[in-house]
Amino acid sequence: EISIGGREINTFIYFKIPGAAEDAELAKAIMSRNFRPSVIGPESWEGYVFSDMEIRIKESTDLYGAVLWPSAMVLCHFLETNRDKYNLTDKNVMELGAGTGLVTIVSSLLGAKVTSTDLPDLLGNLQYNVMRNTKGRCKYTPLVTELIWGQDVEQRFPRATHCFDYILAADVVYAHPYLEELMDTFDHLCQENTEILWAMRFRLDPENSFVDRFRQRFQLEELYNLPSLSIKLYRAWRKDRRTKDQGEAAA
Ligand SMILES: C[S@@+](CC[C@H](N)C(=O)[O-])C[C@H]1O[C@@H](n2cnc3c(N)ncnc32)[C@H](O)[C@@H]1O
Repeated sequence: EISIGGREINTFIYFKIPGAAEDAELAKAIMSRNFRPSVIGPESWEGYVFSDMEIRIKESTDLYGAVLWPSAMVLCHFLETNRDKYNLTDKNVMELGAGTGLVTIVSSLLGAKVTSTDLPDLLGNLQYNVMRNTKGRCKYTPLVTELIWGQDVEQRFPRATHCFDYILAADVVYAHPYLEELMDTFDHLCQENTEILWAMRFRLDPENSFVDRFRQRFQLEELYNLPSLSIKLYRAWRKDRRTKDQGEAAA
């Protein structure tokens, strides 16, 4: 209570850091997707719930990409909770740097035809997780295959025959020496009507400069900003894409 001009008034001061409450709530909802097995069996796995399904992911600690990173959960949460706006049913989807496969699995459960890619050494564990969690549950069997950024991309995925509706990527930008190759791979795979959904974990400055360079080639929209996780989720598309009206006028 304070007094102004002799009148007692009730007041309270409310400091709101923009987005802080939303960030905390969303981050909590995303992280609550993860559970540990209640009984320890002979094989270790991490559990996730998406699309009302239990997903079991086997990790392997000897490889960077064989661990599941929070960005993958952010992207999966977005896909599941925005399935009306970003309807994956029957869509051609490519995942880059799929790691342990959660994004591929959730996209497949949501009805997409997924091409799941990573480095050769990762493919065994990736294939295992993808098969274990999608077999008999999905309209399309996901394809797990090698894609080393920047290497033989046109030979392996010719633009004339490989047109993707979505390119999905979670936590693919960090201190590795293939950032230019990754940029070129996005550029090659992203055609006129392709959309990129990219969950980006910010760790160091070079990652910020990647986003700036990415912005030179692609139009970028921020879908989530989660400072508590240091993650942003972006939607991107080609800068030189014609608008729907231009396309219709040219037809
Ligand atoms: C930080 S992990 C993220 C894995 C997964 N997307 C996730 O969020 O859990 C980065 C992934 O990028 C892959 N990767 C790194 N360099 C690559 C390259 N040059 N070509 C293809 N994949 C690469 C790694 O093998 C790994 O699976």
